[in-house]
This record gives sequence, C-alpha cells and structure tokens, in this order.
Amino acid sequence: MSAPPRSTCSHPATRAEPVRDITAAQGLIESSTVVVPDMTNPLALSPEAQALLFRDARTANTFTDEPVTDDQIAAIYDLVRYGPTAMNNQPLRIVLVREGEARERLLKVMADGNRDKTANAPLVAILAADTDFHEHFHRTFPHFPGARDAFADPAAREQAARFNATLQIGYFLIGVRAAGLAAGPMGGFDADALDAEFFAGTSLKSLLVVNLGQPGENAWYDRLPRLEHSEVVLEG
Ligand SMILES: Cc1cc2nc3c(=O)[nH]c(=O)nc-3n(C[C@H](O)[C@H](O)[C@H](O)COP(=O)(O)O)c2cc1C
Repeated sequence: MSAPPRSTCSHPATRAEPVRDITAAQGLIESSTVVVPDMTNPLALSPEAQALLFRDARTANTFTDEPVTDDQIAAIYDLVRYGPTAMNNQPLRIVLVREGEARERLLKVMADGNRDKTANAPLVAILAADTDFHEHFHRTFPHFPGARDAFADPAAREQAARFNATLQIGYFLIGVRAAGLAAGPMGGFDADALDAEFFAGTSLKSLLVVNLGQPGENAWYDRLPRLEHSEVVLEG
C-alpha cells in the first residue's frame, strides 16, 4: 500500500496531524488510499495564524512566572474590541486581579479544583457584564437616540448584557492567543460571592475567571475530541 498523500499545507503542526478517516464525509476515498483534504486552504487566515489561534492553542492549567504586561492586555483589548455586539452595546468588562490582596480575595470564591492554578497564574482576569451598558449608547450607537430608553427594563438589560459579554469573552480568549499567551478560563467559582466581594454596589456581574500567562510545566490536559462537521453543521 502506498503512503497516504499528505496535506499540501506547509504548517508543521498540520502536517503532523494523524490521518483521520474523514473521507466518508468528504467523498474522497479511493481504493486503499486515504486522501486528507487540506482544510486550511479555503481559509483566508494563514496556517500559522490558524495554529496560533485555534489548531495548536490549548487551555493552560499551569503557568510560568513570566509576567503578563499591561501593554499585552492593552493590545489584546485593542484587537478584540472590534468583535460585534448587538447594537454595539459592548457590555464586557475585564477586571485584572494581580498578585496580592485582591488575588487572595478571589481565591476564596474559586472552586477547590481551580484554586491552585488561580493562585499561581501571573495574571487573572474576572470577565464581567456591565448591566448598565445602555448608558454608553449616546457614544456607541449615536444614530439612534432612543437606544438608551429601549433598555429601560433591568431584566431585559441584564439578559442582553450577559449574552453579549459572553460573545465578547469568546473574542477575548482568541485575542489572548493572538498575543502569544495562553488562557485558562474557569466557570468554577461562586458567582454570587465574587460579585459581593468585588462588585457590590456596581452594575457588574461576573461571568468567567481567566488565568493568563505563558504555559508552564504539564500545562495541558489531553486534547478532547471535537464534534464533526456533519454533527454540527445542519441544514434548516
Ligand atoms: C466557559 C468555560 C468554563 C470553563 N471552566 C473550567 C473550570 O472551571 N475549570 C477548569 O479546569 N477548566 C475549565 N474550562 C476549561 C475547559 O475544560 C477547556 O477549555 C476545554 O476542555 C478545551 O480544552 P483545550 O483548549 O485544551 O482543548 C472552562 C472553559 C470554558 C470556555
């Protein structure tokens, strides 16, 4: 049997991918030869950027001591702020928790399994939704003067804040990778306790805590399977 042809992609990580039998879905099987289509080709993003942002990027569970700089955080925000939100409402707030007293307060509300890695990350961010995002509409949606009043109902506003900030969290996690850093997102914390500790008397509601830094030793768990195209992309 001849060796299976490889992808034409030059990125080493993509070349090293084990040959998977995706041929049934692609209709590319030919006798005993398995053809692996080059999935990177239809994309406008370079294979290197695909690897950095998605294919090789992992969720980190340990970190080195190398600091995350304010310049890196500023550059990440400057990139991801262009991600879309409904009516340009931009409810995400990124609260940096550095080492010291603030970190100790955060550790108290983290789930047991998340406490050590949160203690040891060079920088931690609380990602929160600002439920008073509508106060910025005169700047962020100026062509519609009624935008602020359209969100007078606090319950509807909180729902919109949570939904759109969650979208922005996705942009942020990819932005962290774009800076050459690893993120360790964690939903395992007591949100009510965190909000009482950090956001009492404010319009912020915590959604996620994220460790940030360069990956340390044994940073990764095993890569878990992703669903296949045919399971996720459906016809309506
Ligand atoms: C919203 C969200 C919440 C998560 N919560 C936790 C958590 O509480 N603790 C944890 O160890 N990992 C948590 N993770 C990490 C995921 O398990 C991890 O990102 C996923 O398995 C993919 O891992 P990979 O990027 O290494 O492939 C969370 C990830 C996300 C996006």
